[in-house]
Amino acid sequence: MRTKMENTKVMTVNNDRYRLGYHIMGPAGWINDPNGFCYFKGYYHMFYQFYPYSAEWGPMHWGHARSKDLVNWENLPIALTPGDPEDRNGCFSGSAIVKDDTLYLIYTGHHYYDGDDNPDHFWQNQNLAFSTDGIHFEKYAHNPIIAAAPDDNTQHFRDPKVWQRNGQYYLVLGSQSSDKLGRTLLYRSKDLKKWNYLGPIASARPEANEGYMWECPDLFTLADQQVLLASPQGIKADGHRFLNLHETGYFVGRLDYDRPSLADRSNFTELDHGHDFYASQTTLAPDGRRIVMGWMAMWESNMPEQADGWAGALTIPRELTLKSGHLWMRPARELKALRTATMLDQVMHLEQPVTLRPKHRQAEINMTVDLTTTSAAVIQLQLKTNQELVTLTYDQANNQLVLKRGDRPDKRYAHLTQLSAELQLNVFMDTSSLEIFVNDGDAVFTERFYSETQPHFEITGNQVIQGHVTLYDLKNHTVVF
Ligand code: FRU
Repeated sequence: MRTKMENTKVMTVNNDRYRLGYHIMGPAGWINDPNGFCYFKGYYHMFYQFYPYSAEWGPMHWGHARSKDLVNWENLPIALTPGDPEDRNGCFSGSAIVKDDTLYLIYTGHHYYDGDDNPDHFWQNQNLAFSTDGIHFEKYAHNPIIAAAPDDNTQHFRDPKVWQRNGQYYLVLGSQSSDKLGRTLLYRSKDLKKWNYLGPIASARPEANEGYMWECPDLFTLADQQVLLASPQGIKADGHRFLNLHETGYFVGRLDYDRPSLADRSNFTELDHGHDFYASQTTLAPDGRRIVMGWMAMWESNMPEQADGWAGALTIPRELTLKSGHLWMRPARELKALRTATMLDQVMHLEQPVTLRPKHRQAEINMTVDLTTTSAAVIQLQLKTNQELVTLTYDQANNQLVLKRGDRPDKRYAHLTQLSAELQLNVFMDTSSLEIFVNDGDAVFTERFYSETQPHFEITGNQVIQGHVTLYDLKNHTVVF
């Protein structure tokens, strides 16, 4: 578990070399999980785990930003500050829901045992806060709303995600059973204040490699099935799978509300294959799309921006769809509004390396390669300066995608679940991040990279193949502090 840290001077950014142009970040200091993602009175709201006093994790606050269009964000005052009896040592992750024109936040209170320095000696409860203007939040006077974990649970009991169904409210909680297996608990309420425990709906199977604690659960319906998205800790690497310290992924099944369980659930599948994606949270857009954002980092990763007074960011918003039991994740279509200029739009022959030179640090590539004439194409997309930053290679014969980063030896892998006559790459570059969507979100890689000079792309094919390539400049400073 992370250590405790207490400071009193608010951090400032002392160097903006890695600051992102169109991603949610904190004004300075540390951020991790997205929290409370919702739509309220004409705005999307996004909160995040925030420690304003250091570029390292510390007693968690909720930072806050809002947007009318998922593109332009306005930073708002801190929504939740820890230190009250119900959240003495931190306002941990949670979610939001709108009821009677009021925005409610449900979050975890984190508590260390008094006078004890062991960071594993803690307990957790669940609390409520509310706001009518979506800016100023008041904690509920009768917190906590869920005081204690069930008897067969360890101290790991956090990250409530709430939704409404047939006039009742439900929430799922991340949990660890007393036999040290990750699981998801279900609760029900009529008023968001008094909650009844219904039981665990899914648990790591002891014989399977499914983790010892499931953080940040999220439950929603797509294509008439229920998706349980979660961030299990402790899944062991298995060949080319589960290579991050902790994973974010999903189970698909059918939620039986009467005999609480996620019936016929699938095995755990990773949602994003990159090094930097964790603790994602979804919301429903007013038009019914399921939008997800994740923390664009990973616990214990090297974060060079800490030297500059900040750490962490959220991914771009992405739309989730479920097809053939597989979650597809593509950039939210609103992001087309980021484009400021088309720098190139051309069919190219890829047997010679093609160089694309974005003018700025914010750029998008769209590339479609026709694979009908070949069965053994190898296509490589590289982000580089005079050094290699990120390289993605697609090997058609083996249906394999391999991602390599210049600053670390461990590669990441994926395959396409649906074979296609095209390889399509949609790539979002920002100052220090790269998000690669393959074949309309069949596979996704999210990466941070660190370069003080402007990088460019190089695309290469191993044989005579054609690609249609578009390069866009994107907006900068879409988050106003
Ligand atoms: C996930 C997590 C959550 C917790 C929060 C603390 O990254 O560990 O389980 O609520 O971060 O900041």
